[in-house]
Amino acid sequence: MNYTNWIEYFKHNKQNRPEPDWAAPVNVPPDVLGPMLRSVEQFRLGDGGGPASLIAYDAEGFRSSTEEMRTIVDLWFKEEAEHARLLGCAVKRFGGRIITSHWSFTAFCLCRRVLGVRFELQVLTLTELVSTAYYRMLRKYSPDGPLAAMCELILRDEAGHVAFQRARLVSAGCPLPGLCGLWWWSQFLLCGYAAATVLWVSHAPCLTAIGGSRGEYYAAVTHQLTRFVRSLHRTNKPLRIPALWVKRALAQIEPAK
Ligand SMILES: [Fe+2]
Ligand SMILES: [Fe+2]
Repeated sequence: MNYTNWIEYFKHNKQNRPEPDWAAPVNVPPDVLGPMLRSVEQFRLGDGGGPASLIAYDAEGFRSSTEEMRTIVDLWFKEEAEHARLLGCAVKRFGGRIITSHWSFTAFCLCRRVLGVRFELQVLTLTELVSTAYYRMLRKYSPDGPLAAMCELILRDEAGHVAFQRARLVSAGCPLPGLCGLWWWSQFLLCGYAAATVLWVSHAPCLTAIGGSRGEYYAAVTHQLTRFVRSLHRTNKPLRIPALWVKRALAQIEPAK
């Protein structure tokens, strides 16, 4: 893994970030504003609004593996904190409140803390993939220009984070060949759909109020997860992933509304 390139990437990504016009008039119908605000309030907490660091009991071993890795992890979490700032601006714009606890966030932090840094990094990778599906839908259907502009900035960062996670996994020897590889991507997809479902349970009222559907959301999640797994296999030894089969199977489980 080329640490220098990643440090350069994160430094470069701080530039050219046009701030959304938070002072622009709000023209969102009240029946949409309510669920959208609750969703953004919760997302602010989950996307950088909590502890801006790795919190697994053994995280220090990963962070201090090299001095460069410590720098990269710090730069990554600075971007997560920036997402919380942007989401906080959206919350204020819509007259909401800064929440500091939610059941899904408590469960999220508990998993990260007790199951070790490898699992925490997987949870964070999956969160970034699933959040990308959420932000893409919010950007597509947003009835508010500044909110869509905020999604654009966050999506740009998350694309970099996902690429970093891919590079990190490949340099650690992932995916493993044969049955071990099959087990890895099975559990990765299973955990990914579990994370996606937790997100859907909390944010469906917003996504449906603005015009999205459950089918579209799960299709976007499937696209993110399968593309990520395929990219790992392209980079390493190829193990054929029946992505089309997975897509079709999931389309049957999660039919469009
Ligand atoms: Fe984020
Ligand atoms: Fe991220």
